Amino acid sequence: MDLNEIRKNFFEEIGKAKDLKEIEEIRIKYLGRQKGELMRILRSLKDLPIEKRREIGSQANALRKDIEQALNEKLKQLQTTNYKLQTNLDITRPGLKPKTGHLHPLTKIEQEIRQIFISMNFSVVEGPEIENEYYNFDALNIPKNHPARDVWDTFWIKSPSKSEKFLLRTHTSPVQVRYMEKHQPPFQIIAPGKVFRYEATDASHETNFYQIEGLMVGENISLANFKFIIEQFFKKFFQGKKIDFRFRPSYFPFVEPGVEVDIKIEKAKNQSSWLEVMGAGMVHPNVFKAVGYNPYEVTGFAFGVGLERLAMIKYGIPDIRLFHSGDLRFIRQF
Ligand code: FA5
Repeated sequence: MDLNEIRKNFFEEIGKAKDLKEIEEIRIKYLGRQKGELMRILRSLKDLPIEKRREIGSQANALRKDIEQALNEKLKQLQTTNYKLQTNLDITRPGLKPKTGHLHPLTKIEQEIRQIFISMNFSVVEGPEIENEYYNFDALNIPKNHPARDVWDTFWIKSPSKSEKFLLRTHTSPVQVRYMEKHQPPFQIIAPGKVFRYEATDASHETNFYQIEGLMVGENISLANFKFIIEQFFKKFFQGKKIDFRFRPSYFPFVEPGVEVDIKIEKAKNQSSWLEVMGAGMVHPNVFKAVGYNPYEVTGFAFGVGLERLAMIKYGIPDIRLFHSGDLRFIRQF
């Protein structure tokens, strides 16, 4: 075989080689010290005239490099394929998903409610969980020693000052006052947050729970506006389910008139009768006076809705205490 034949044959054979053994055989056939085809030519160089020796010598060395490179590449290629076969690696299989946590059902519900009100042009504001007596009670037209204070069983906090008493807010209504002190109407806001009550727990009462306060103030705002907004809200929140509303007269010192809103949903999982979900009403003139508004110029409605109660209806949860139980069997369902 001359160099051209060697090249042609080698590349044909190496192209067909299927395993390491065949590659080794090809290597010996062409590069073997004793009988290798290329080695035979290299060995015979010494018998050639000097000019020929140079020419053939450099061609033979170039071919030797090409052969060595091709052998190495083939080797690598076979090793990778073998590895894949040995390890059964299927690169088309979907990867393993790392376990990530997810949002608590109450956080989801709160975000949903925020979005609905934002879509109706409400702003979202916040207030402190540790309040003073003035914002939680006095400014909301609940004077000291008034029996209405007993409605909100309160966690009082030891206070270093005698003049100012602190507590864990019993409702989100103090945010109304804080907001109105700093802003002028017209506006519409919601204020979501945690509230605390010193009361016995049962299937529908917790000591820590969430409320969302709503407040809309401007000229000629009426209870009809409230009814429209709240019905729109519930329709969006319960996504097209048929809902009946009931507005019952009620008493809260910071509204006049005051109402409680009950809802009944068609085919709700655990609800066959009316369920009270929020307190509401037209902002009391005394609250407007406390924040420096003229009650003859502006009117407004306010409401406070319990977040857990809404989540219970939406997801068919029978007991409010499950939310903060930390039981993963419960949490993982959402
Ligand atoms: C209030 O807290 C008033 N601040 C609501 C309000 C705001 C009235 C603005 C008028 C104008 P009430 O105590 O009824 O009201 O609580 C409001 C809602 O919070 C209830 O309808 C209920 O959904 C929820 N709620 C009350 N107590 C608890 C409790 N212990 N556990 C869970 N949810 C509760």
